Amino acid sequence: MSTILRVENLTKYFDSHLVLGGINLEVNNQDILAVIGPSGSGKSTLIRCMNMLELPSSGSIVFDGKQVINAFKSNENGIGTGELRRRVGMVFQHFNLYPHRTVLENVTQAPILVNKESVQDATTHAKELLESVGLVEKIHEFPNHLSGGQKQRVAIARALAMRPNLLLLDEVTSALDPELVGEVLQVIKRLANQGMTMVIVTHEMAFAGDVANKVIFMEDGQIKESGSPAEILVTPSSERLKLFLSRHLR
Ligand SMILES: Nc1ncnc2c1ncn2[C@@H]1O[C@H](COP(=O)(O)OP(=O)(O)OP(=O)(O)O)[C@@H](O)[C@H]1O
Ligand SMILES: [Mg+2]
Repeated sequence: MSTILRVENLTKYFDSHLVLGGINLEVNNQDILAVIGPSGSGKSTLIRCMNMLELPSSGSIVFDGKQVINAFKSNENGIGTGELRRRVGMVFQHFNLYPHRTVLENVTQAPILVNKESVQDATTHAKELLESVGLVEKIHEFPNHLSGGQKQRVAIARALAMRPNLLLLDEVTSALDPELVGEVLQVIKRLANQGMTMVIVTHEMAFAGDVANKVIFMEDGQIKESGSPAEILVTPSSERLKLFLSRHLR
């Protein structure tokens, strides 16, 4: 299985505060990597470094065999942040939809402006995606007329509209009412079954166990355990992880 993303000896400081202390991991095509760990352990910082929303302090990110460089444009030395972000989609906890654009415009904007797709092609693709997340009847609504679960499904469709090689999801259900969590998890589960490669930061342990093929447990900016969902979630080796899971498994 080919590797799409490799993180090598990644460190991140905020001022003098070490937040990521030497992370190494690999994401292969069609992997679903779940990232779990207590609040403040560095999960969001790690996933944000994966598409250079945060700049690593040292170490490297290798995407599709090329070094990621801190420059907008790709060059002979590596892949720039512009190309990286076109190929790595991200979905956030708080949706971050454009409030003054309709659902359809939210989904078509980047493909048209960034990928230079025709309006017709982008619209056709957006309608397919919105249909697949169960929102085709909402295409002309504005985001503030949607429920949280519906907004998050639009945000997922918007990320997919760029046809990313990798999708990063940072606690995409934690801002939702409990009744709305299921509809979003169902969409992610379907993407997993379709072979989408994903890194998923989540507090939903049952979901991580169900959808992921690899799980990492982070604490204090380090990967403390990694393995299959069965190894990490069912037969954890450290007392710390056992305690963490006892608080999160419902
Ligand atoms: N922009 C920032 N400036 C300074 N410190 C930051 C910044 N972002 C995060 N931190 C600090 O880095 C550490 C890791 O934060 P991060 O958001 O990555 O944790 P997390 O595991 O995602 O937590 P949560 O589960 O609460 O989302 C925390 O101590 C946090 O206070
Ligand atoms: Mg976080």
